[in-house]
Amino acid sequence: MKPLSDTQKRWLANRFKDQVRFDAPMARHTSFRIGGPAQALAVPESLSELTALITGARKRGMDTLVIGGGTNLLVGDPGIDGLVVIIRCLDDITPGEETSDTVKVRVGAGVPLKRFCRYCLAHGLTGMNFAIGIPGSVGGALAMNAGTARGCMADGLLSITILDGQGACRTLAREALCAEYRRLTWEAPGEAGARGQSGIIVNGEFLLARGDARSLRREARHIMRARIKTQPLGIPSAGCIFKNPPDAPAAGRLIDQAGLKGRRQGGACVSDRHANYIVNTGGATAADVRALMGVIEKNVWDRFQIQLTPEVKIVGD
Ligand code: EPU
Repeated sequence: MKPLSDTQKRWLANRFKDQVRFDAPMARHTSFRIGGPAQALAVPESLSELTALITGARKRGMDTLVIGGGTNLLVGDPGIDGLVVIIRCLDDITPGEETSDTVKVRVGAGVPLKRFCRYCLAHGLTGMNFAIGIPGSVGGALAMNAGTARGCMADGLLSITILDGQGACRTLAREALCAEYRRLTWEAPGEAGARGQSGIIVNGEFLLARGDARSLRREARHIMRARIKTQPLGIPSAGCIFKNPPDAPAAGRLIDQAGLKGRRQGGACVSDRHANYIVNTGGATAADVRALMGVIEKNVWDRFQIQLTPEVKIVGD
């Protein structure tokens, strides 16, 4: 990302006041607890402020990075140039049309996935239990089509609403979206065939079936217990660090079989509980994590001739 000029910083400070901070340490905004400062970090208070920020930043040629919960993110130690935007304000869960069997629910991109799962449990709605225990925001989870063996975000999705750089919102039906393993893409306006993630996800609308609240809660407890047993929850990490390779054993199994559990680099360590997690045992730097990722990739390649691809999004140097 390009550094911000003094004029651009002045505009941000004057127009957005205390919604913007400068040289803001990203370690406070990532689940890894790693990352140097963002040159500017904005937390707009409403959709209209977010729209003013995005359109104004674009008009002034600023590079912008929008983040959700910061849970799948590795920010470099020198930090991030440009403008980082946190969309916490998009925090509504709104039920819509319903039948005796189903309910449509619109969920803001800034809603923590955990809150959406709890909402579904409280209302006896099925379809989101797969996400129990996945950290992060609904927007981030949609963008990466987060999921487990039980399901993924695209499964119950009816549409998403996107905010573009001109400040217009448009809704894209499920048929216009391409859901792949850990990625959701759509066609950029005016660029037939060019798929990507143009614009910012503002919300997603889900079709959820009514179920038995008690058995849903039982299933949720079971899923959470299994997670606690197999994943290093509660220790700073970015979740699974590599994608599962296609037509091959899971990344966690490959890393485990390569004998890498417990391998350390500075404060970063391959988790003993789940080998596809790198945990920050205290004071890990982004350089430590990247070096450890390199060690893992090399060892897995040498042993199995399988190339692992990062699931975590790496930003900044
Ligand atoms: N395994 C090992 N050793 C390990 C870890 C796993 O041998 O250290 C084996 C397991 O025994 C199992 C296989 O690898 O046979 C798969 O492991 P697991 O069931 O834990 O699932 P996963 O494929 O490693 C996926 C998602 C997780 C999600 C779990 C829950 C990916 C990359 N990971 O993990 O998502 O929580 O399923 O079912 O798709 C994340 O995306 O950040 C994430 C953690």
